[in-house]
Amino acid sequence: ATTYSISLIGFGGVNRALAELIVTRNDVWQRELGFRLMIVGVSDLTLGSIIAPGGIDPRVLTRSRFEPGGFAALSGGSADPRSLIVVRNAPADIVVEATFTDAQTGEPAISHCRAAVAAGRHVVTNNKGPVALAARALTEQANRLGLRFECEGSVMSGTPVLRLAREALAGSQITGFKGVLNGTSNFILGRMEAGLNFAAALHEAQAAGYAEADPTADVEGHDVRLKVVILANELLGADLLPAQVECSGITAITPAHLAEAAAQGRRWKLIGSAMRQADGQVTAQVQAKCLPLSHPLAGISGAVNAVTFATDLLGDVTISGPGAGRVETAYAILSDIIALHRDGVAAKCCEAAE
Ligand code: HSE
Repeated sequence: ATTYSISLIGFGGVNRALAELIVTRNDVWQRELGFRLMIVGVSDLTLGSIIAPGGIDPRVLTRSRFEPGGFAALSGGSADPRSLIVVRNAPADIVVEATFTDAQTGEPAISHCRAAVAAGRHVVTNNKGPVALAARALTEQANRLGLRFECEGSVMSGTPVLRLAREALAGSQITGFKGVLNGTSNFILGRMEAGLNFAAALHEAQAAGYAEADPTADVEGHDVRLKVVILANELLGADLLPAQVECSGITAITPAHLAEAAAQGRRWKLIGSAMRQADGQVTAQVQAKCLPLSHPLAGISGAVNAVTFATDLLGDVTISGPGAGRVETAYAILSDIIALHRDGVAAKCCEAAE
C-alpha cells in the first residue's frame, strides 16, 4: 500500500484528533482508500519539534501531555521556529497546518504554509485566517511547484461545502450563496427562542465548546465574515478581503424580536451571503435576517451550519452539517488528503511499500 508521510504543525484538538484517527483507522484507510498515513514530524509549544523519518507511533503521540494554555503564545506574531524546523526538515509529503492562529493576521499559519510549500510539501489547513487572507497567493505558490494547497476544513469543518461546490456542482454555475455559518450564534438564537437571555445562552455555547476563545468573533459576525470571504473567493472567483465585507452580528437581537418573529412564522438567523452582480463584481455581507419558515436556512437549529448555493442549472442547492469540532475538522483534513491521493499527486517525497 502507499504510505503518505505527514507533518503535524500544531498539536491541539484537530491534529490530535487526526493522530487518534490514524491509530484507529489506518488499516481501514489502507483497505478502502488505498493508502495509510505515517506521521514523520510534529511541532507545538508543549512537545517542541519531533522529526522521525521512520515514523512516530501515533499511540505514543496521542498519550502525550496536552496543555491548551500553552498555545496562546502562538497567536499573532509570526512563524514559530520549532514549527519551521519540522516544516522544512521532516521528510513529509504533506504538511497539516492546524496551529492556533490569529484571524486578523493569519499568523503564524501563513508563514508555516509558505515555508512548507517552499520546502516542496503539499499543504492542508483548517485555519480560516490564512485561507481568507492568503489562499490565492498560497495556491499560486504551490501550483507553480506542482503542489497543492487544500483548505476544506476552513469552512464548516468536515461538511464538504467547498468540495460539493467545486466538484459535485462543477458545470453548473454558482451565482451566489447564503449560509448559517456560525454555530455559536445560531445556538444562542435558538436558546433565546426557548426563553434564555443572551448571557445565559452564550454561557451554554461556551460550555459546549462551540465558541471561539474570544466569543466576540462569533456574536459580532467576524467569524462568519472570514467564512464568507473564503467561499466567495474560492467559489465565485472574488478577490475580497474581510475588511471589504459589511458585517454585523446578533447582539442587537432581543427576546422580543425573536417572539415577534415567531408570531409571524419567521426566525432570525445570522446570514453570511455573497452574490455575483450583473457587472461581474461579487458583493458580500454578514447580517441577521428574519427568514420565513419556508426558507431552507430557517430550519437550521443548534450549532449546525448550512449553505444554500444559487446555481444556474439546479436552482438552490443546500448542504447542512457540523460547522466545528475536533474530529469533524480532522475529517476535513483527511478528505483533503483523499483528494490528493485520488488526483495521484499526494506522494512528493517518499512512497513506502508495506
Ligand atoms: N466558533 C465557530 C462557530 C467554530 O461557532 O461556528 C468554527 O469556526
